[in-house]
Amino acid sequence: MLASRLSTILRPRLRLAPLAVPRASNKFILTKYPAFSTSIQRYDDQGSGRPKAAHPTKHESRPVSSGEPVAENVKEDESKRAGIPEEPQDGAPPRSSSSSSFESEPDIPAPLAGLSAQDLFSLKDRTILITGGGRGLGLTIAHACLESGASVRCMDLLPEPSQPQWSKAEDLAKSKGLEISYHKLDVTNETQVNELFKELFEMKQHNEKQPIRGLFTSAGIQLMLPSLEFSSEKFQKVLNVNLTGTFLCAKAFANQWLEKNPKSANDGSTGDSLNGASIAMTGSMSAHIANLGITCAPYSASKAGVNQLARNLALEWSQKGIRVNTLSPGYIRTALTAALLDEKPELEKIWLQGSLLGRLSTPDEFRGPVIYLLSDASSFMTGSDLLVDGGHCAT
Ligand SMILES: NC(=O)c1ccc[n+]([C@@H]2O[C@H](COP(=O)([O-])OP(=O)(O)OC[C@H]3O[C@@H](n4cnc5c(N)ncnc54)[C@H](O)[C@@H]3O)[C@@H](O)[C@H]2O)c1
Repeated sequence: MLASRLSTILRPRLRLAPLAVPRASNKFILTKYPAFSTSIQRYDDQGSGRPKAAHPTKHESRPVSSGEPVAENVKEDESKRAGIPEEPQDGAPPRSSSSSSFESEPDIPAPLAGLSAQDLFSLKDRTILITGGGRGLGLTIAHACLESGASVRCMDLLPEPSQPQWSKAEDLAKSKGLEISYHKLDVTNETQVNELFKELFEMKQHNEKQPIRGLFTSAGIQLMLPSLEFSSEKFQKVLNVNLTGTFLCAKAFANQWLEKNPKSANDGSTGDSLNGASIAMTGSMSAHIANLGITCAPYSASKAGVNQLARNLALEWSQKGIRVNTLSPGYIRTALTAALLDEKPELEKIWLQGSLLGRLSTPDEFRGPVIYLLSDASSFMTGSDLLVDGGHCAT
């Protein structure tokens, strides 16, 4: 009898798929959720039919000051919890197959709780700007952004982007009803940068459908010389492209984005919600270590500067709705490293010594990390560095 009472009480309240037959004699009852596999529910001893805690309890919660573990298998008082609920909530609306298993509680802001884990990584309904998007890592990331549902604007010093990768990107964009465009830009030229970013943000018709919400900076150069021979002119050239160029693009992006989103500029209203923007800057593991086999002091210094730049910009802009992070890649097989390896083939062996994975990477291996940084999947990450180096810096 109790079993059938429980079933009647719980079924509409929790909107469950068919319950496994509850047995009154058991404290723990197996229930099947549409979006979960199975979960164990515990019922209070008074037979009220109300779930008591979502996990089996070993003992009750203790105060932190007791010097004992607060709880081993016990969840905190449900009413005091903040953040995303761990279990489906009473009265939660029915979920579509692509929505999250976790619905936000009405009085607790959890803006992403309605998205499935898969959708967190989607770049649908937005446009991403990419510097250094004419080849190498930048162009690979352009492909990845298209694959994830974004339109893309690539900017580079090259008069034309690399083929056949560019044509493939155009085909991909067309097949998905997205846009990809190429814009010649020298990231060290402030006037050019400001004008182009303004122009891109003013493509009203497109931006209404897919607003610009991300910037990936990949433009960069490497010069190899012993430090004793580096002229200030050459030193500054590297800093100009890698550090100043990154800053100018980030600044132009933020100015334009804040102009188009004045509400967040004033009250931080989109600080961590679904409508903010994300800047991901390419640093390097060279910001963390000195590379064996190559002499590139200004390059490493410029990339360390990019990391610190990101922290400062994150401090200034995160509450205005723009997150800023860096990606620090290890060695990647691109035109940049090919030139070094052509000149000094012995470098490969030296570089491999440092890699815990025993190999150099390929640009496609950074699709996941960059999409993570640009998407809502990294909503709580800002002012941080994502080191993806095959374990190089671990030793
Ligand atoms: N390849 C690696 O091993 C490696 C490792 C760590 C970090 N990185 C960084 O990744 C980024 C991409 O490097 P990559 O390996 O794809 O090299 P790449 O040389 O293939 O790409 C760099 C792009 O930047 C563009 N560029 C250079 N100066 C510019 C300027 N003034 N204005 C606009 N564009 C400019 C180039 O034309 C080129 O298309 C760089 O920032 C690089 O420092 C590379």
